[in-house]
Amino acid sequence: MLCGLLLGSAMTTTIAETRADAASIEDRVKALLGKMTLAEKIGQMNQVHAGDMEPISQLGDALRAGRIGSIINQVDVDAVNELQRIAVEESRLGIPLLVGRDVIHGFKTVMPIPLGQAATWNPDVVRQGARIAALEAAKSGINWTFAPMIDITRDPRWGRIAESPGEDPYLASRLAVAMVEGFQGDDLAATGTIAACAKHFAGYGEAESGRDYATTNIPENELRNVHLRPFHAAVNADVATLMASFSDLNGVPATGNDFLMRKVLRDEWDFDGFVVSDWNSIHQLAVHGLTADDRDSALAAATAGVDMDMAGTVYDRYLAKLVEQGALDTAVIDNAVANILRAKFRMGLFEKPYTNPDALPAFGSPEALATAKTAALQSVVMLKNEGNVLPLSKEALDRIAVIGPLADAPYEQLGTWIFDGDEGLSVTALQGIRDLVGGDVEIEYVRAMETSRSKSTAPFDEAVEAARKTDVTLLFLGEESILSGEAHSRADINLPGAQAELVKRVRGAGKPVIAVIMAGRPLTLTNIIEDVDAILYAWHPGSMGGPAIADLLFGLESPSGKLPVTFPRMVGQIPVYYNQKNTGKPPTPEKIVHIDDIDAKAPQTSLGMTAFHLDAGYTPLFPFGFGLSYAVFSYDNIRTSSAEVPVGGTLTISAELTNGSDVVADEVAQLYVRDLVGNVTRPVKELKGFRRLRIEAGETVTVSFELHTDDLAFFGRDNKLIVEPGEFHAWIGGNSDADLKTAFRVVAGD
Ligand code: NOJ
Repeated sequence: MLCGLLLGSAMTTTIAETRADAASIEDRVKALLGKMTLAEKIGQMNQVHAGDMEPISQLGDALRAGRIGSIINQVDVDAVNELQRIAVEESRLGIPLLVGRDVIHGFKTVMPIPLGQAATWNPDVVRQGARIAALEAAKSGINWTFAPMIDITRDPRWGRIAESPGEDPYLASRLAVAMVEGFQGDDLAATGTIAACAKHFAGYGEAESGRDYATTNIPENELRNVHLRPFHAAVNADVATLMASFSDLNGVPATGNDFLMRKVLRDEWDFDGFVVSDWNSIHQLAVHGLTADDRDSALAAATAGVDMDMAGTVYDRYLAKLVEQGALDTAVIDNAVANILRAKFRMGLFEKPYTNPDALPAFGSPEALATAKTAALQSVVMLKNEGNVLPLSKEALDRIAVIGPLADAPYEQLGTWIFDGDEGLSVTALQGIRDLVGGDVEIEYVRAMETSRSKSTAPFDEAVEAARKTDVTLLFLGEESILSGEAHSRADINLPGAQAELVKRVRGAGKPVIAVIMAGRPLTLTNIIEDVDAILYAWHPGSMGGPAIADLLFGLESPSGKLPVTFPRMVGQIPVYYNQKNTGKPPTPEKIVHIDDIDAKAPQTSLGMTAFHLDAGYTPLFPFGFGLSYAVFSYDNIRTSSAEVPVGGTLTISAELTNGSDVVADEVAQLYVRDLVGNVTRPVKELKGFRRLRIEAGETVTVSFELHTDDLAFFGRDNKLIVEPGEFHAWIGGNSDADLKTAFRVVAGD
């Protein structure tokens, strides 16, 4: 269908300040810019690593000279205040500093890793987690975080999947907005709010073979339909800054990519915040081979639209020379500096440069810990519960074996990117279980492995003995935090070390085995899944992971997390994701054949000639959106408010959701659609709505989703956003395999 209708590309942004504020900020930016020397302007574009210079001597001199606009990684509030004092009181123009830090999923109090937070499918809890992080970080003088990380990824080998919201652009967009709102509040100048930074712009999550920093090749259409969507949502939510990615995008590294930063970000999205490079990534443009040296890199990055050089020296050393030589227009510098100053004015830094830590709540406050517990509770995904072995009843148990390297690992449960995380606030699962069962149940704890990577099986006898003596075994498996995160990618994503062997040995004890898995990524669980009765997938659950896991194990709450990313059966299936294209030869159960079933006499005729793997089929181990509950939910009676919706109109799609059990529980109801014919092929399913609902035992509720035709828009063959009239299918259910289906038509509007 080629008769797409063009959507207006100008999105209305909701700028927090009033028009008068905005006008006065622009006046102030202009006035200040008018007073600045070239050196002072370039100073604003320069961020330094606090550790690279002694705070008060060297750094102080550079600040006095107006050569620094921002520092990164100084978290001593007195030092930050002193540096601000020098900048504000001893530099010629008194421009305050941006104080940046990676506050990714908490500061002292740590929330689940972002992938775990995505498993809550709860923007409210994600927003609240970011608010707590902002309050705690602000207490240390930090006014700018390098979060949210909103790189879509379909590759669990990539270590940074832990930091990402997963594979889906819609879920990622909702959570991106929630995080920006949580960090920035509705007033960037208020005490306790900090500027956010949407990163890494763009495409980083497609790193080839999941190897961090590796090349990405993403056609523009895919880039726009998938990877750019969460960034656009963050920009529409007034995110203050963006970070350019380290990665090479289609031959032009993101840090030098004017398509991304000029055409899309500025011209199409009207972004008026500023863009920071990643750590020394301007210098790396020459390493990529895009430029010959640092001078050329400074020129390429500034021209492409990178406003600030993070922890590099390239802008500091070359921008002035480039201007003097006539190679770089001063307008480029003025524009970048205006973007940075605008952010500083919006943040109220000129009025309030100093931090009074006493004006902010204590670290690890009851509110912070309560939020961390709620987030952890809602993030855990139950993948298996054979024979309803869970929940446990403490009345029915005398002895429990708690086994494994992650049962009592206060640091490891915090996950990656927790520079400031306070291990002392962690409550481990072992502690959580002990607190919950009190003296009623005897706990036998055997660590069995020094780390998740240990290969020695010598301690397994003791573990098997403990399993034999007790009524049920809780196995705490997974990866410690060092196995995911930046530059921590894995090619084999099975449970590391001798864990699979531990599972088999404990299984041999003949008692029910429940695996609680803490990890920074989806692991391939095929080799252990038959040997355990239940699996709770807890990601790295943060400070309050222990009490949350204990509550879930003993049924004080039902598991309600849903997968934000598909779980492969084996690594060779990657990338495997739910919103794939149909292909010309889509597989179906009857059209696949397993490698072991190939007919030796007629090998050619037995193959299904569809898009599958002979040794893995085509389905994942667990689909996107999946997660079990102690309640039994069913969906019925899907319908639309009308059979047709005109372009520009809204349609309601509803279904009945029943909790057929005697357990009250949360369920995340999900809406998927498929656009059957498009001028570029459309995914077989796309998430278009979700709702977390608390459903009483025996209760039936109507779940309704309003769908505007703009929600069906996609970038077509010419990469313009369009809504095409035509037929759509829609599903409502508890995961992306939902089969309760209806249909509707989009028709041309007036
Ligand atoms: C490099 C990482 O890619 C980025 O995400 C982070 O914010 C910076 N380093 C600063 O630590």
